[in-house]
Amino acid sequence: MRFSASSLLGLSGLLSASVFVVAQPADSTFMSVRESVAKDYESEGEIPRTKYFSEYHPPAISLPRGARSWQWGFCFADKPLPDDEVTPHLSALIQTYLSIMSSIGAETWIMHGTLLSWWWNQKIFPWDNDLDVQISEPTIHFLAEYYNMTDHHFDLPGVDGGRTYLLEINPNYVVRSEKDRLNVIDARWIDKSSGLFIDITAVRKDEGKRQRGDSEALMCKDRHHYQESQIFPLRESYFEEVPVKIPYSYVELLEEEYGANSLTNKDFQGHKFNEDTKIWEQMK
Ligand SMILES: *[C@@H]1O[C@H](CO)[C@@H](O)[C@H](O)[C@H]1NC(C)=O
Repeated sequence: MRFSASSLLGLSGLLSASVFVVAQPADSTFMSVRESVAKDYESEGEIPRTKYFSEYHPPAISLPRGARSWQWGFCFADKPLPDDEVTPHLSALIQTYLSIMSSIGAETWIMHGTLLSWWWNQKIFPWDNDLDVQISEPTIHFLAEYYNMTDHHFDLPGVDGGRTYLLEINPNYVVRSEKDRLNVIDARWIDKSSGLFIDITAVRKDEGKRQRGDSEALMCKDRHHYQESQIFPLRESYFEEVPVKIPYSYVELLEEEYGANSLTNKDFQGHKFNEDTKIWEQMK
């Protein structure tokens, strides 16, 4: 492993400075979503035709010179990060995200590849260049209402001047239809120094399936489907050495998405899992 997350420990004390206080959402459950805000667009004509967030991933692609458009999502970084700085930046990104969400009372948990990397050693895979988190539907409404475009500054150990992160909410979050293929990402937590970001997707009640008798059905606009009991009640754990929430049936969810092999195969992406150190070591 080419970095140490421990240099960023003690974050919780440092993190509170920039957070302003907003009333927490009262008893956020799936049942308390304000239905008036959410729209189930049925006709194609009402599905947004433009994409709010690009799927651009800073580490993988060089930036066009002078590219600074909001819509393109990489207005902050002038150049891509060197490879060996990606994981430490991602680590700080998830640590700051989890701390802010916890301190404002916004429910979030890790999913997909990030959940799989947690399963192995509670750390980001050394080859990953993105992170996946989910939030519940009441949370996306809460964030849109009080936190859109808010800057959050963190003094991070070893980072001169600290780093500022931006929380940006896709205005199309009110469109609940899976037909909105261009706006499957509901929000982003963006590191303004590097342009790296975390994609945030909202998990919603699947009204269609519920009407057909599947009373626990949940969906995301990215076409992932779950049962309420697969996610809730969330479990408490640690990821990158900070508290994190984990979906209830994590093994079942991981096997569904990646196959049972993904939980036993110690040879992965040019790395080998060392059982003693619990670290993915790069193979020569
Ligand atoms: C958040 O703010 C940006 C910039 O002003 C805006 O484009 C976007 O529509 C806002 N999102 C919501 C959910 O209001």
